[in-house]
Order: sequence, then C-alpha cells, then structure tokens
Amino acid sequence: MTIKRSIVLGTGSYLPQRRLTNAELAEMVDTSDEWIVQRTGIRARHIAAEGEFTSDLAVKAATRALEAAGLTAQDIDLIILATATPDNTFPASAVTVQQKLGLTSGFAFDVHAVCSGFVYAISTADAYLRCGMAKRALVIGAETFSRILDWTDRTTCVLFGDGAGAMVLEAVEAEGTTADRGILTSHLRSDGNHRDKLYVDGGPSSTQTVGHLRMQGKEVFRHAVSMITDVVEDAFSATGTDADALDWFIPHQANRRIIDASAKKLGIDPAKIVITLEDQGNTSAASIPLAVDAAVRDGRIKRGDLIMLEAMGGGFTWGASLLRW
Ligand code: UT7
Repeated sequence: MTIKRSIVLGTGSYLPQRRLTNAELAEMVDTSDEWIVQRTGIRARHIAAEGEFTSDLAVKAATRALEAAGLTAQDIDLIILATATPDNTFPASAVTVQQKLGLTSGFAFDVHAVCSGFVYAISTADAYLRCGMAKRALVIGAETFSRILDWTDRTTCVLFGDGAGAMVLEAVEAEGTTADRGILTSHLRSDGNHRDKLYVDGGPSSTQTVGHLRMQGKEVFRHAVSMITDVVEDAFSATGTDADALDWFIPHQANRRIIDASAKKLGIDPAKIVITLEDQGNTSAASIPLAVDAAVRDGRIKRGDLIMLEAMGGGFTWGASLLRW
C-alpha cells in the first residue's frame, strides 16, 4: 500500500545579531551568570534590533530553508508560521512573510501554540500535505519574545530570546512503514486548566494592550517532564519504535534540566540530544527548527536518521513528532 508522507527538503534559521549575555543581564536585574547557568543552562540569548519584526526573522530563516531545498518561494503553496509574538494582532504574520517572499499564490496562516507552536505547525502542514490540499509547505517558527518580557522581572527576563527557524516540506508517495522518509507520527495535547501558569497579561480583547509574559516557573517545571515523556512515549508506541532506535532527540529548548530529566526518563542516550539553549535561551516556537537547522548544517543529522521533536509550553500545550530524515 502506498501512502503520502511529508518529507523535509531543506531547513534554515536566523538569529538577530545582538547577543545579550548573562553578565549584561546581571547589570539590569538582581541575578548572576552562575544562577542562570546552574538553573537553566543558558549563557546568552539574541535580541531583535529596533524595527526588526517577527516576520523579518521568519523571512530570513525561510529564505535559507528555500536555498537549502534548492527551491524558490514560487514553489511553495502553503506557509504556516508558528508564533506567539506576531508583528500585529492581524493580519497573520504568515501573510506578511508571504508578501515579503513575493508570493501571491497559495495560502498562509499563523498557528498559536506558544512553545509547542512548531510541533503544532508541522503536524498541521503534514495533514494538509497528506490530504492533498497543498503540495509544498514552508513551516516557520519565529518569535520576538524580547518584546513581551518584563525586563524588571528576573524570574522571566533571563530565560527567553528571539530567533526563527524554518523547514520546507513536500508530500511524496511512500510505503507506509517506519522506514519511510518524512513525518511518521505526531501527537498533540493541550489542557487549558493550566492557562494561568504561563500567560501574557494583555491582549486585544481583554486589556487592549500587548501585555507581558508571566510565569509560575516552578509549576511549569513540575508538569513539563511528565507531559513531554507522555507524548514521546505515544509517538514511540504508535510507530513501534523506541529510544534505542532514535538517532536524534530535538527538544524545545526551555531549560537544560527539563531536557536532561525528560531524556533520562525516556532512556535516551545523552549523546543523542541536540542542545542550542546555551547561546539562544528559550525562543519559544523557534527553538526546535533552530536546533534542527544547527544539527543539519554541522552534519550531525543525516539522510535516514530517526528524529524525535518535542515541546511543551503555555496553555499548557504539548506535543511530539517523529520523523525520518
Ligand atoms: O518554554 C515553556 C516553558 N517554560 C519552562 O519550561 C520554564 C520552566 N521552569 C523553569 O525553567 C524553572 O522553574 C526556572 C528556571 C524558571 C526557575 O528555576 P527553579 O529552580 O524552579 O527556581 P525557583 O523558581 O524555585 O527559584 C529559586 C530561587 C528563588 O529565591 P528564594 O525564594 O529561594 O529566595 C527565586 O526568587 O531563585 C530566585 N530566582 C532568581 N535568582 C537569581 C528566580 N529567578 C532568579 C534569577 N536570578 N534570575
């Protein structure tokens, strides 16, 4: 039996030039490099320049992904942008990206699932591609969290950064086995009962302001490992695969301790974990495609590798996607 699979044709990413170190943050709020490194693993993050918007970061990452795929924007008929920090309340920043890429065909929209945004976005693209509504998708995670941080709140401002990552996906015929290239399975979850643990205290309908990110960090941490391991286990059991079969574990980059504890619980060899948070912080929906692109460009990810992507964040939302490169 042949089925359709969404394979990755190319990846790209972009980090703003300005790099903000822990030492610089220690001059702004009551914190230290030692505390941030010990509790999170983060040493620096990148901050978008004045006048540099989420759509600008997204376009740079997308352009690199298209180059890597050997395609032009005209080859794309679907753009999905995962972001919680759009340029404007509307239109969707994906439409701005479409315009900046010079595209007037196909369709584009944003997906809003905060840190889980990229997993939600690629599984959405995968569904459109497999059902035939689109042929080639550009899936982007892009964020400017620096714009929604309270820079006087040491419990949150040290954690996040700006950036973007992108993937080009194409639907192809496949055998329907786990040896196929492409997205093999995706598992998404959400539970709005946790909405007050990680949220932004503003919005068009509630306050008519943009608001600032608020988080009960310890509470998020408490749920993160079990939620992550649950969906990853679901992806393993849906495909008859396991931690040993995995070549790369590419988690959302929120906190080194969450990543290590999740990998340990899942029995994943630490050598298989891709970590980028040290120099990027938590870039929300951008963190997974940024990490994937880093591991593709430095040669770690090779054709045929089995890769698990996972994320958990505001909502709560969480999810995992298993794919063969
Ligand atoms: O991307 C989506 C989801 N987000 C996450 O996954 C984040 C999840 N949470 C975390 O990563 C961790 O909970 C944090 C990194 C946010 C905090 O680490 P923690 O080990 O849970 O620390 P804590 O909140 O229990 O705080 C310990 C102490 C507190 O002081 P007291 O009450 O013990 O005197 C905090 O006030 O550390 C203090 N503290 C800081 N000290 C220096 C909190 N932030 C800072 C800081 N610098 N930046």
